[in-house]
Amino acid sequence: MTSKLLRWLNRRLNGVVGYRDEMGTHGTYDFSHGRHAADRIALVNHLVSLYDYDDYLEIGVRRKADMHDRIIARNRISVDPAEDAEADFNMTSDAFFSQNRKVFDIVFIDGLHTGEQVYRDIENSLAALKPGGCILLHDLNPPTAQHAREIYELDGAYPAWNGTSWQGYARFRKEEPNLEMYVVDVDWGVGFVRRGRQKCYPGAIGSYDDLERDRSEILNLVSVRDFLQRHPSQRLDWSPFDPLKRRFARYST
Ligand SMILES: C[S@@+](CC[C@H](N)C(=O)[O-])C[C@H]1O[C@@H](n2cnc3c(N)ncnc32)[C@H](O)[C@@H]1O
Repeated sequence: MTSKLLRWLNRRLNGVVGYRDEMGTHGTYDFSHGRHAADRIALVNHLVSLYDYDDYLEIGVRRKADMHDRIIARNRISVDPAEDAEADFNMTSDAFFSQNRKVFDIVFIDGLHTGEQVYRDIENSLAALKPGGCILLHDLNPPTAQHAREIYELDGAYPAWNGTSWQGYARFRKEEPNLEMYVVDVDWGVGFVRRGRQKCYPGAIGSYDDLERDRSEILNLVSVRDFLQRHPSQRLDWSPFDPLKRRFARYST
């Protein structure tokens, strides 16, 4: 009830009320593209604006109005196998990557929410990233075992589903030291992955109980504020050289 009221207030007041519920943190922040309520779209657009990203790929799009059309990158393409999806490539992400020759600045993974598929989507996206590019992923912080169930349908209904996506991400947290990885605690958990260095997670990641026991370490969970500190906006100390600096920064990681 309280969370319903806060959600309503937040909508009426354009996101100024900060609070936390099962989806993560809610509130408005100064992103590089302006002041916005924090969600997956604001995080993608912050990075697009900050690093001058041009080429955006969305895996799992459904309706373009929900996210795809609101991304400010110059070139956007989308992949989704559902017959009624508004996708540029009406096929699975595996089929897309097997024929793809393009490279991308930023990939948003939000297709089939199983650990195996998300693992392959990360692997294939890394191979299709430009230098300095990054991957964002949706649904990495399921709040309960029910949200983290294997399949979408539950007793004939379709309640909120984060699936086992977190397990595909967690395998890279455990096995790959040459990546920078964390999950922002917003909008069901938005993951960030790019080439870099990390201390791999040493423990078990096989079940939802493992996630429950050590959520913050497995995911490397950070706040929206932490995310903004890792990718500081350069809007306030703008100089005529900034556009040049930003272009150069894309190749420095
Ligand atoms: C949660 S929706 C995407 C929502 C959208 N990204 C947004 O934020 O508004 C997930 C979509 O993934 C699609 N999907 C399912 N399996 C897929 C696969 N193997 N490859 C790509 N997309 C897939 C589904 O058809 C569905 O439309």
